[in-house]
Amino acid sequence: MPRWTETDVPDQRGQVAVVTGANTGIGFETARVLARRGATVVLACRDPARGGTAAEKIGAADTVRLDLASLASVRDAAETIRRRYDRIDLLVNNAGVTGMRGRTEDGFELQFGVNHLGHFALTGLLLDRLHDARIVTVSSIGHRLARLDLTGDTADPQRGRGDAYSRSKLANLLFTHELHRRLRAAGHATQALAAHPGGATTEIFRYSSPWFRVPNLLIARLLGRTPAMGALPTLRAATDPTATSGEYYGPDGLLEIRGYPRRVEASRRAHDPDAQRRLWEASERLTGVKYAI
Ligand SMILES: NC(=O)c1ccc[n+]([C@@H]2O[C@H](COP(=O)([O-])OP(=O)(O)OC[C@H]3O[C@@H](n4cnc5c(N)ncnc54)[C@H](OP(=O)(O)O)[C@@H]3O)[C@@H](O)[C@H]2O)c1
Repeated sequence: MPRWTETDVPDQRGQVAVVTGANTGIGFETARVLARRGATVVLACRDPARGGTAAEKIGAADTVRLDLASLASVRDAAETIRRRYDRIDLLVNNAGVTGMRGRTEDGFELQFGVNHLGHFALTGLLLDRLHDARIVTVSSIGHRLARLDLTGDTADPQRGRGDAYSRSKLANLLFTHELHRRLRAAGHATQALAAHPGGATTEIFRYSSPWFRVPNLLIARLLGRTPAMGALPTLRAATDPTATSGEYYGPDGLLEIRGYPRRVEASRRAHDPDAQRRLWEASERLTGVKYAI
């Protein structure tokens, strides 16, 4: 099989792409390649200064302030994007945090709140701008470690950090699968896909506590690869004409940590339709965002 690289990303001229957490890491690399291929890229970042610096480097069209730890900020960002763009062709739900304790502004456990609930709300608020578009949500190998009932106390900041991260990343996949099913049932042409980067040496551990950061950084340095390589599965899910709704992309190497992007399989739990439906209902209730599908 030929290796899929960023040169395989088709011409993106005329396409509008929104990428969350695009000021650094995998989001930055995703935005950089999309912009280079001609897309109008909107960098949705929580720090306007960091977003602006990234936009200058990339030559991206636009930045929007988005703090996924605040539903008010998510609503403001969605409103700004809706005002500026009639149509969005690609939404990349990339931003994420790991190894942190705390709560979001609305009282949700931080990692679940930022990684899943914030993106759930953003996607729902932008859905009527997404026609024949793609929604790509970035998960992790770590989703396989999640065992907890997602309808439990998602606001509990006392849960183990790694555990809360895994649960949020499982939620990214349950969300994608349920979104895919609902879009199809509604006759919507928009596609929902997921991707994971394997291991990449990004800034992901910068806010983590030392006991979490040090071992994880060591593993990342030993096994990880560049953020640009880490962005390839996202870019493939987002742009490969042969990729279709419901699919999941990750690296083709050992344990899916390194390598070039190919279609991969999510865990059995990620395919549980009952968990997908319950997560969806809980997410609508917690965020107050009701999807029109
Ligand atoms: N790196 C890996 O090995 C790895 C492995 C598996 C999965 N992933 C996933 O890949 C995605 C990107 O991570 P990365 O490795 O590129 O990490 P990163 O370098 O830390 O970048 C994360 C991005 O998310 C943004 N972000 C964090 N909290 C936010 C919030 N409350 N609201 C809006 N944006 C927020 C960050 O903004 P600031 O710069 O302002 O903090 C940054 O732009 C994440 O979903 C992560 O779970 C990464």
